[in-house]
Amino acid sequence: MLKLDVISEFREDHRKVRDGLLEIIEALESNNVIKAREILGELNTLVGPHFRYEEEALYPTLRKFLGEYVDELLTEHDGVIDTAITCLNLLKKDSLTKEESKQAASAARALLVHVSNCDGLAILSERLTEEELNKMSDKFIEYRKAGVTLLDWAKTIRKK
Ligand SMILES: [Fe+2]
Repeated sequence: MLKLDVISEFREDHRKVRDGLLEIIEALESNNVIKAREILGELNTLVGPHFRYEEEALYPTLRKFLGEYVDELLTEHDGVIDTAITCLNLLKKDSLTKEESKQAASAARALLVHVSNCDGLAILSERLTEEELNKMSDKFIEYRKAGVTLLDWAKTIRKK
């Protein structure tokens, strides 16, 4: 038995992020920047350990199936992090111009596409061994305990 069912936790995170991003888009449509900012702040906390898990545990393990394509996943993450920063910066203001609001919603949609792509990795994870999943589960627990937000992790721990 795994200490943590990493595949279902991984997918559950995606569901939370999906719902959060959809709420952000909705909040922006009704000019509720404060609500959008609040949700994005929560997502920043939630996805810190998730991204860290992906890059430090999941991707290296999936290299046996994906080979050099893992590097593409890492490059994709660079873009996702930049998009998240853009969105966070836009939402710092209490009111946005129409153009800024559109930009923020578009950033949220780009993140939504990433969530959908990333969830596909679950189907590959199902082919990992119990031992690999066990190691990954230990790491997921460790990263959640450390609780570093996405932006803090990207600025400090993430080395690339
Ligand atoms: Fe993910």
